[in-house]
Amino acid sequence: MSAPLTFLGIESSCDDTAAAVVRAVPGAAPAILSSVVEGQTALHAAFGGVVPEIAARAHAERLDGCVERALDQAGVALRDLDGIAVTAGPGLIGGVLSGVMLAKGLAAATGLPLVGVNHLAGHGLTPRLTDDLAFPYLMLLVSGGHCQFLIVEGVESYRRLGGTIDDAPGEAFDKTAKLLGLPQPGGPVVEAEAALGDPHRFRFPRPLLDRPGCDLSFSGLKTAVLRARDALIAEQGGITVQDRRDLCAGFQAAVAAVLAEKTRRALTEYLALNPADPVLAVAGGVAANKALRAELETVSGVMGARFVAPPLRLCTDNAAMIAWAGIERFRQGARDGMDLSARPRWPLDQTAPALIGSGKKGAKA
Ligand code: KG4
Ligand code: ZN
Repeated sequence: MSAPLTFLGIESSCDDTAAAVVRAVPGAAPAILSSVVEGQTALHAAFGGVVPEIAARAHAERLDGCVERALDQAGVALRDLDGIAVTAGPGLIGGVLSGVMLAKGLAAATGLPLVGVNHLAGHGLTPRLTDDLAFPYLMLLVSGGHCQFLIVEGVESYRRLGGTIDDAPGEAFDKTAKLLGLPQPGGPVVEAEAALGDPHRFRFPRPLLDRPGCDLSFSGLKTAVLRARDALIAEQGGITVQDRRDLCAGFQAAVAAVLAEKTRRALTEYLALNPADPVLAVAGGVAANKALRAELETVSGVMGARFVAPPLRLCTDNAAMIAWAGIERFRQGARDGMDLSARPRWPLDQTAPALIGSGKKGAKA
C-alpha cells in the first residue's frame, strides 16, 4: 500500500493564477486542503479577450502570493509536502513559464520532487479526485480554451475521439456576448438572456453535423449571430432587448444541439470499445450551462451511461486538479528535473492529428 502524499499544485496556463494543496491517503477519499484561484477577468476586460503579455505579468506577480495562501489555508509548511506539481502546458507560454519557473525554484530550494502536469490531464483526471472513477471513462472538456472528447484510459493514456477545429464553445459564448454588447465572461450572461428568449426564432447552423465523427466547429455559429444581428440593425435600425434574448436562445440551442449529437457519437464509439459501466464525465466552465448539462445528461441516459459532473469550482481552471494529477503521475514513478520545459502545445493523445485552432485563449493542443 502506498504512503499518504501531500502535493502543492500550481496552475498559470491561461487567465487564472492558482495554487492548491491536495492530500491523498490510501483507502480514503483524497482531500483538497486548499484551493486558491485568482482570476484576471478585470485585467483583460477592456480588450475583449485574454492578452497573453498581461496574463504572463499578472501570473509572475501573483503566483508566490497564491502559493503562500494555499499553504496557509491548508495549514501545511513546505517541509510537510511530498512534491510539487505544476502545469507545464499546453497554454499561453508566458504564463506557463511563470508557473514552471516558480515550481523549479521551490523544488531546488526544498529538494522536493517536481512533477510537470499537462493541463488537459488535470481536467481529465478530476473525476477521479471527486468521484473516485476507475479507468476508463469518456470525458468531454468544454471550456473557453478547450473542447475535446477523450477516452481516459490511464494516468498517461488518452485517446482523443474528436475536438473543435476552430473556436472552443466558451470562446463562442464570449464572442457572442461581445457582439450583443453583453459583458465578459459571456457564458453566464448569454445563458441568462437565453432563458428569456425564443430558441426557435433564429435557426442557426449546426456546424459539422453533416460530417461523420466527433469533430466540432463553433466559429461559424458566432458569424451567423453577427449576420442575424446586422440584418436586424439594417431592417430596424437596432436590436431590441427581446431580439437579443432570442439571438442568445437560438445560439445556445445550436451549441447544445451540436454538443449533444457529437456526445452521442462519442459515446457510441466509446461503447464499442468499452461496454462495461460506461461513464460520461464533463469538465470546463461551459459545463456550468444548465441547458447544455441537461442535454448531455439526457444523451448519457439514453445511451445507458452514468453522467458525472465535478463541482463547478473543479470543472473550471484550478490548481487542485494539477496537484491531483501530479500525485497520480508521481505514484506511477514520474519525476521531472530542472530541464522540465514549458510547452505551448502538448496534445494528450500523441497519435491523434493536430487540431488547427489556437483561439484567443491559446493553444488547444
Ligand atoms: O474552464 P474555464 O473557467 O476556463 C477556461 O477557459 O479554461 O471556462 C471559462 C469559459 C468562458 O468562456 C465562459 O464564458 C464559459 O466558460 N462559461 C459558460 C458558462 N459559465 C462559464 N458558458 C456557457 N454557459 C455558462 N453558464
Ligand atoms: Zn482549462
